[in-house]
Amino acid sequence: MKQIWISKNGPPEVLRLQEMPDPIPRSGEVRLRVQAAGVCYADVAGRLGIYADAPRTPYVPGYEVAGVIDVIGQGVPNLKEGDTAVALTRFGGYSDVVCVPYKQVYKRLEWMTPEDGAALPVNYLMAYQMLMVMGSLHPEDKVLIHSVAGGVGLAALDICRIIGAETFGTASPEKHDFLRERGLDHPIDYRNRDYERVVNDLTAGKGVQIILDRLGGKNWLKNYRLLMPTGRLIFFGVSAMENGKKRSRWQMLKTKLQVPIYTPFKLMDDNKGVLGINLGQMWDHAELQRDWMQQIVAWYDEALFRPHIDRVFRLDDAAAAHLYLQERKNLGKVLLKP
Ligand SMILES: NC(=O)c1ccc[n+]([C@@H]2O[C@H](COP(=O)([O-])OP(=O)(O)OC[C@H]3O[C@@H](n4cnc5c(N)ncnc54)[C@H](OP(=O)(O)O)[C@@H]3O)[C@@H](O)[C@H]2O)c1
Repeated sequence: MKQIWISKNGPPEVLRLQEMPDPIPRSGEVRLRVQAAGVCYADVAGRLGIYADAPRTPYVPGYEVAGVIDVIGQGVPNLKEGDTAVALTRFGGYSDVVCVPYKQVYKRLEWMTPEDGAALPVNYLMAYQMLMVMGSLHPEDKVLIHSVAGGVGLAALDICRIIGAETFGTASPEKHDFLRERGLDHPIDYRNRDYERVVNDLTAGKGVQIILDRLGGKNWLKNYRLLMPTGRLIFFGVSAMENGKKRSRWQMLKTKLQVPIYTPFKLMDDNKGVLGINLGQMWDHAELQRDWMQQIVAWYDEALFRPHIDRVFRLDDAAAAHLYLQERKNLGKVLLKP
């Protein structure tokens, strides 16, 4: 099999292609021939060495794949050779063959493309968990989505659109036309304007009910201020720690020094909620995610959304895919194709 390894923390060039013998599935696992593998920003953070959950180098990154099952391990119910599937991988997805515990595998609708399939697990499960499960999204809610043009951002926008909520989203300005067409109500150019002021202007100073924050740093407090009473602030990333192609210890320290303290007293007095999610830490709770994925696939089946696939890079071009994300060029999902 062919795999992409992160040889050491550093710029995209540390990603290296290696040939290895095909793996044999252990008991409770299935083997997939990969047709498409998802690239997400967490892979970039892992490569940079600023993602605490990543294994020590060298390792194969990648959280999600779509493919065809070609070998079934012992004790695997309800799956068979030849089934089309998608799977969460918790590392190892940048590969043309993967073995995965069957609990992390979802059968793929016959007419769902491998590209659409590989774009679902991370982005849509995360967006679903944040908005529907922890955020209690309602049609009358106002929702601010940071980096709304990214992979998780567009998934969150799709869900808000399906539920009927009003959406505010930050993104680089060249992405705004696309976002309006995709259904975003209020695109915000956060790189040239203070989004706190813009949201306050748009809401007559009232703020919003739900904020999805992957930025962190000074945004932790700005976003808290933008919540209206009963609002929920949900953290899912800390991009403020990243600037440039390499790790910057100064940037990391600066971000850590900006960590706010939301005391129970303050939360009670403000009637606000602060929540966080980490998909990797949900690995042992696959039974919860199965219901969420069922709803996501039902929406897909009803043609209520389609993931936006921006670019598909060859597996051996993984470094270019990482650079594409870091240079902020992507609109939605970036994939690798073996
Ligand atoms: N908690 C979890 O379990 C989990 C799992 C997977 C991913 N994540 C996190 O979720 C977030 C979104 O992931 P994604 O895969 O959907 O990525 P993404 O949003 O598609 O990432 C690329 C985009 O992020 C924006 N961005 C904001 N700050 C940036 C910075 N400092 N450097 C480069 N780009 C920056 C850029 O768009 P604009 O310029 O338009 O803003 C860029 O196009 C990431 O922070 C990732 O680490 C969390």
